[in-house]
Amino acid sequence: MKPNIKILATGGTIAGRAKISTATTGYTAGAIEIDELLNAVPEIYEIANVTGEQICSIDSKDMTDEIWLKLATRINEIFSRGDVDGIVVTHGTDTLEETAYFLNLTVHGDKPVVLTGAMRPATAISSDGAMNLLNAVRVAANKNSVGKGVLVALNDEINSAREVTKTNTLTVNTFKNFELGLLGYVNAGTPEFYRTSTRRHTSNSEFDVTGLKKLPLVKIIYGHAGDDEIFVDAAINANVDGIIYAGTGNGSIHVNAEKALARATAKNIVVVRSSRVGNGTVIPAEKSYAEKNFLDGDNLSPQKARILLQLALTKTNNLSEIRRMFKQY
Ligand code: SIN
Repeated sequence: MKPNIKILATGGTIAGRAKISTATTGYTAGAIEIDELLNAVPEIYEIANVTGEQICSIDSKDMTDEIWLKLATRINEIFSRGDVDGIVVTHGTDTLEETAYFLNLTVHGDKPVVLTGAMRPATAISSDGAMNLLNAVRVAANKNSVGKGVLVALNDEINSAREVTKTNTLTVNTFKNFELGLLGYVNAGTPEFYRTSTRRHTSNSEFDVTGLKKLPLVKIIYGHAGDDEIFVDAAINANVDGIIYAGTGNGSIHVNAEKALARATAKNIVVVRSSRVGNGTVIPAEKSYAEKNFLDGDNLSPQKARILLQLALTKTNNLSEIRRMFKQY
């Protein structure tokens, strides 16, 4: 019997329409609805019983917390019915890794959830969307994908939601994790896994967004030579709940920004040090950081540290608890 796979569509370049077939920029993302996308890849129905559902039709740069909550709620609803074996989410590539990590922490269950997208619009010569969609369905329908957390499948590669990031602004081989590596491949149509992510996710996640209408407000501030207190003070004045400081090196903070961040923690705003470097772990550094109650962001990118802090703050303001979460997720 073929597995039942649900596709939840959110827009992006995979659903992008350009005026001419050579255009790979300057097109409208999210212009094509899921039924039209599925009609263009009839091979999908040889693998699974596939149905589509449009969640939204956006360019993923415009992703919102509200859509994330809608998506997580819908996936949990679908899985609670028991008649769907796996879910594919079609998504723009710009924030795909963020949605994947959010779902990795908020979907409860072991069944596969696979995000895919495309770098070239559906109307382009050699568009990558149709093959990515077909392969994402293959991954979602595969028994070996069960229990691996939310997966990202593009360009014949399978990555973990926690670790993958977009690494090239334009090329189709953009989703990578340079140091920890991919989980597997789709080899001539067959998913093959070689490793798994060891951090807590999905059925082992403590985060529950059921009934939530909004998420805590957490902003990212990007450190740089010549940094100052301007953005930190703006964040304090905007009553944020948390700040991710994407520091230099091992989450290092410019002395001027550090003074302002101390004002933030004094007002019970949670500050997490992350890094703009892109690889490696942020570990405790200056004594002054610990004294000011800044937390360490482990090896999460600033954009993923933001998501974990948002979810942590739905449960607690206790710094020891949040520190534990950054070690476990
Ligand atoms: C988007 O993220 O929606 C546009 C870019 C893309 O999908 O590649």
